[in-house]
Amino acid sequence: MKKHIAVISGDGIGPDIVSEAVKTLERISSLYGHEFEFEYLLAGGASIDEYGVPLTQETLERAKSADSVLLGAVGGPKWDGLEGRLRPEKALLALRSGLGLFCNLRPALMYKALEDASPLKSSIIGEGIDIMIVRELTGGIYFGEKTLSSDSSWASDLMKYSVEEIERIARKAFDAARKRKKRVTSVDKANVLETSRLWRKVVSRVAEDYPDVELNHMYVDNAAMQLVRNPRQFDVIVTENMFGDILSDEASMITGSIGMLSSASLGSGKCGMYEPIHGSAPDIAGKNIANPIATILSAASMLRYSFDMDVEAKAIEDAVEKVVNAGWRTFDIAKEGEKYIGTKEMGEKIREVIE
Ligand code: IPM
Ligand code: MG
Repeated sequence: MKKHIAVISGDGIGPDIVSEAVKTLERISSLYGHEFEFEYLLAGGASIDEYGVPLTQETLERAKSADSVLLGAVGGPKWDGLEGRLRPEKALLALRSGLGLFCNLRPALMYKALEDASPLKSSIIGEGIDIMIVRELTGGIYFGEKTLSSDSSWASDLMKYSVEEIERIARKAFDAARKRKKRVTSVDKANVLETSRLWRKVVSRVAEDYPDVELNHMYVDNAAMQLVRNPRQFDVIVTENMFGDILSDEASMITGSIGMLSSASLGSGKCGMYEPIHGSAPDIAGKNIANPIATILSAASMLRYSFDMDVEAKAIEDAVEKVVNAGWRTFDIAKEGEKYIGTKEMGEKIREVIE
């Protein structure tokens, strides 16, 4: 199969980790007889330096015309002083909304071999953590009207959701649950927010189409607490944009595997954007230290969700698991005193196993 992949390495460790993922995709294409064409685009700080804005219209158009987008990470202290609309993060938001990627899948999965890295007690972890966070990605307070009064004495961000926006993300969550343990927890703040009361009503209505999936509702403050008290009660969590931002950081941290977790942003078509959960870690950029696994696994998700290449995706995921189980570690997942290898070496180990 022939596929056109837009590659946005971004800032900080972005280029280090993305190049390992691209090499892995190249290996897959030659092994399985596909043709992947990579087009490199600038976004975030790299684009600010080159064009003065975090994302140009031209870049967005090019990304739209690709079959899929692979992204490293954007941002860094160099651009921290810029005003809101010029910050590197704005590129991410513009890509998400420009590509219509309303559904963000963030698995929080614990690797058995890395269990010690979790900050939770083993009695709480039990058999391991495996949660899928389904975050609404193009609505809510992130995209509502933003106001700063002319004298800067007040500011506001509007949180707004339509029935249609809630319905389509709810369906994605129930569909995901069907392939898992068939449980959905919808997280909101319906005791305070009007958007949450609508959210609850619409999600409950969608649930009627999925009688085989169990639904429960939880307030977001309680959910934040339950995630550390008893994470194993969760299967799929569906929630609005900002709650999902916050809870997905918490969920990834308790797995102890933040350098290992990928994410997929999907819309109604096949094109998606795939990126690691972690940030751009500017302090270790270019040093061959960063863990490329989350990005390599993001590339695997691209194969699965955008290209329907399940066998190829599984080959990458199995290789990662084998390499980790065999004791290979990058700096971030090595225990104190344990030996570790570099970014490139980790990428190469994974590719060796794929073959
Ligand atoms: C994330 C990030 C982004 C978000 C930032 C960088 C805009 O935190 O992908 O979770 O808030 O969505
Ligand atoms: Mg976040």
